[in-house]
Amino acid sequence: MRKYIVAGNWKMNLSFDDAEELIESLIDLKKGDELEGLLMIVFPSFPYLELATDLTDEVDVYIGSQNVSNKEKGAYTGEVSASMLNSMDVAYCIVGHSERRKYFKETPEQIREKIDLLLEQAIKPIFCCGELVDERNENLHFLVVKAQIEQSLFHLNTEEIKNVVMAYEPVWAIGTGLTATPEQAEEMHAYIRKLISDKYGESIADEMSILYGGSCNANNARNLFAQPNIDGGLIGGASLNADDFYRIYKSF
Ligand code: PGA
Repeated sequence: MRKYIVAGNWKMNLSFDDAEELIESLIDLKKGDELEGLLMIVFPSFPYLELATDLTDEVDVYIGSQNVSNKEKGAYTGEVSASMLNSMDVAYCIVGHSERRKYFKETPEQIREKIDLLLEQAIKPIFCCGELVDERNENLHFLVVKAQIEQSLFHLNTEEIKNVVMAYEPVWAIGTGLTATPEQAEEMHAYIRKLISDKYGESIADEMSILYGGSCNANNARNLFAQPNIDGGLIGGASLNADDFYRIYKSF
């Protein structure tokens, strides 16, 4: 069955105490509100992951990492491996985020390596793809997204791809307040599902969760999530406030 997901990418924000308070508020808000097939996932920074997995041990809030190393282990100072994340019960990990592609020059090859290491550790990658504003203006957005998916995901076999969550995040919409319209997002989501269907078959494509990200908030989430191919959101700014994030979660 396709899962619906509301995921909060906290990025490089919040002190330890703020992170603790935010998770506790979310747990409180969500208490007794377990919605079948609708997951809440939060992505704190590395130093808060253990706190987050401990606090959510008994509740229905999943914890993911914002990043992982493309190396397995060893002398890579400052890196965090997929097996370390696994040892802290981290269930999901964002890969291919446009901020990492842009500021840290992550390549499709590195993204592919990260995905492989995560899957070996039974951690589900949330794979981000999306076009720049110029690419959309030149009508290249479908080609760009297709290439990103082919380069970093299409080496996976049928069993592996089932564990990947997709996130379409047009770069021009991230942190800008410029949300894609429900129609623009739906058009791309339907296209992505078709790409997956052509490569892996209809039933795998039908089960895949495809999230939208880019200035999604409590006011626009309902219209986005009402689209047949939009299965939730990857939320940045609006995930830093418990009430806003919970309102987005309840927009399904
Ligand atoms: P935003 O970020 O909601 O602040 O636009 C989304 C993301 O980067 O995942």
